[in-house]
Order: sequence, then structure tokens, then C-alpha cells
Amino acid sequence: MKKILVTGAVGQIGSELVAFLRERFGNDNVVAAGHAKPPDPDLRDAGPFHFIECTEIASVAAVVKQHRVDTIYHLAAILSASAEKHPQKAWQVNMNGLYNILEVAREYGCAVFTPSSIAAFGPGTPREGTPQVTVQRPTTIYGITKASGELLCDYYFLKYGVDTRGVRYPGLISYKTAPGGGTTDYAVEIFFEAVRRRRYTCWLREGTRLDMMYMPDALRAAVEIMAADPARLVHRNAFNITAMTVSPERLAAAIQRVIPEFTMDYDIDPLRQAIADSWPNRLDDTAAREEWGWAPKYDLAAMAEDMIANISKRS
Ligand code: SER
Repeated sequence: MKKILVTGAVGQIGSELVAFLRERFGNDNVVAAGHAKPPDPDLRDAGPFHFIECTEIASVAAVVKQHRVDTIYHLAAILSASAEKHPQKAWQVNMNGLYNILEVAREYGCAVFTPSSIAAFGPGTPREGTPQVTVQRPTTIYGITKASGELLCDYYFLKYGVDTRGVRYPGLISYKTAPGGGTTDYAVEIFFEAVRRRRYTCWLREGTRLDMMYMPDALRAAVEIMAADPARLVHRNAFNITAMTVSPERLAAAIQRVIPEFTMDYDIDPLRQAIADSWPNRLDDTAAREEWGWAPKYDLAAMAEDMIANISKRS
């Protein structure tokens, strides 16, 4: 019987992953943990919820022990743009938080899923068809914590046999819970503004291409990699995965196919533009496809239609 803990359960991925896992493994077998009460009553009341601080190891250990957790999805993290504003806090949460999770996993024999990111790459990385193993050297503190986290997870597997696994997520697009403090958040905001106001002012420059993915694919990736046959995994903690490569103008064109009167202009945010410019344009996800059968279901057009339909229903 699986007993799963999800940290960062109130965040953009966590709030949907908890429900996704509860459908598969049963409400009581998925413990949601965060440091704010979930606003969504389904998430709050459907199964166990705990307040934890990942930076305090005792609070993680107590929940793992109480619920006999065997698998941890560790999603609690500070995203790229927020991290640049608060680098020390980002290190504390992203690195010390992960270290605590891995230590608890070592002691209690848990498997651990950790999301890495396109941010784990830097300006020296090949930008097109970015290979699975290549130059990384990120220049943002968020990217440094992600690249270091990949290595730390590898270390816990090699040294202690902790079953660590993970993917490098691209920008994630979803309508249920807003992301916060990320560079790719524009790709979420644009849909809400398109439905509500028919116009959007984009903070990234035209032509800024980044990998993106629709949330249903991202959730499936998290579950599929944890279920993958370990004998087939050559890599473990940092699988490149992508579903589409998107620029602001391509995204706007996809929206205009559904909302023809939509218009977009630009007001560039230098901080987030510099972050985006340091990341690759398009990852090569062959290793994930070969080693655990990764394949996205949503392309740009399918994602845009679904986003607009769902946001329109809620507006
Ligand atoms: N979506 C994240 C961000 O923009 C990258 O992992 O910070």
C-alpha cells in the first residue's frame, strides 16, 4: 500500500498533484503538507493535511513517522524571479529543505520525487535540442539550487540507496492554482487576461522561446517516473521533459485562434527577461522517452483550447 506525502501541496503543482494522487491511491493514503491552509475545500477536507516547514527537519520527520509515509513528492520551493529577490531565503528553502527531505527519506526508507527545471541550465548550455547531459552552470540562484539538488539526489541514491527520481520541468501552464514568482508565469497570466479583458501586456520580449507543458502532462510525468522500472533508469533525477516550445507571439496566436479579438503588447521586465535569456529554447527529452516511456499528450493548440474553455467556465 502506498503512503504518499506531498510537500508544497498548496502550490501550483501540489494542489493538483494531491487530487491526482488521491484518485489513484485513495484519499487517506495521500498526505498533503504546506505552510498555508489550502483554500480549496476538496484539497483541505478530502484527506489528511499537515502544516510543515521543510526547513525544520523535525516537522517533516513527524509527519512521515505518523503516517508511515513511503514516498515523498517534494514540491516546496521558491521559484526563479522570487528567488532572485530573496537569494538567501531561496537557498534556505530550496536546498536545506531538500536536504531535510532526503535525510528523512534515508532514515525512514522513502522514495523521493524532486522536480528540477529548465532553470538548471545556464547561458553556456546548448540552447536548441539541449541534451540530457551537458554543460549546466546556471546563473540564477533558483537554477543553482536546482542543479545542486539534482546532484544531491543522485548522491543519496548512490551513497544510501534512497530511491530518488525527478524530471526537469519546463514552464507549467494550468488554470486551477496560479503559480507565483516564476519567469514562465506569463504563460498562465496571458490566458486569464485573454478571457477576462481580451488583452495582455507581456513582460518577456517577442521571440523569447522556452519549453512549456500543460499541467495534466506534468502530473502524469510525476506519477509515471515514480512507477518506472528502476532497471531501465540510466538517469534518475533530472530527466529533460518537454511538450512544446513557446514564445509570447506563438502563444498569442494560439489564443487568437479561439479568441480572435485578443491583442498583446509588451512591457519588458529586465529581471525576468534576463532569467529567461539564460535558459534553453528547446530541450531534448529522448532519455525520458526511452527510459520510462515519456510522451506528452497536449500540444500548444490543444492546451490553449482547454485552458480557455476551463477559465471561461470559471469566470
Ligand atoms: N517555472 C519556473 C520559473 O519560472 C521554472 O522552473 O521559475
